[in-house]
Amino acid sequence: MPSVRFRLNGVEMNVDADPERSLLDVLRGSLGMIGAHFGCGAGECGACNVLIDDRATASCDTPVWSVAGKDITTLEGLGSAEQPHPLQRAFIAEQALQCGYCVPGILISAAALLKRNPSPTSRDVKEALDGNLCRCGSHNRIVRAVLRAAAEMAAAG
Ligand code: FES
Repeated sequence: MPSVRFRLNGVEMNVDADPERSLLDVLRGSLGMIGAHFGCGAGECGACNVLIDDRATASCDTPVWSVAGKDITTLEGLGSAEQPHPLQRAFIAEQALQCGYCVPGILISAAALLKRNPSPTSRDVKEALDGNLCRCGSHNRIVRAVLRAAAEMAAAG
């Protein structure tokens, strides 16, 4: 079995896997990283997003061979229950979810946005999250939460 080497949440990995397997399948099935969710399986909903070299990317249609040498961040790498990312705190404060299934992918897309644009407008947030589908109708709260996190991060320097 060929192996693929990449960095996952700051840790070097050497994973034995069929190179054509999806990154999502490897993360969830082999590495126990279940933060990224399977939604459409076709790169259309954003539930499976992870950061690949700081870009929010659908892991369901990313073959694992293509991430060789790259830096991958999953939801587990953003923050934890003990040390949540400002985005996670803001989503809780704004109650920006209902079922929550899509939220891991939204947090990843929002984290990518704040890395490239620490002071987004609500329009910037809406554009950045355009590829993340949410059926619960939490959109206004989600936008507020991302802006809240951006303000908190700016205040913290
Ligand atoms: Fe990957 Fe929908 S499950 S984009």
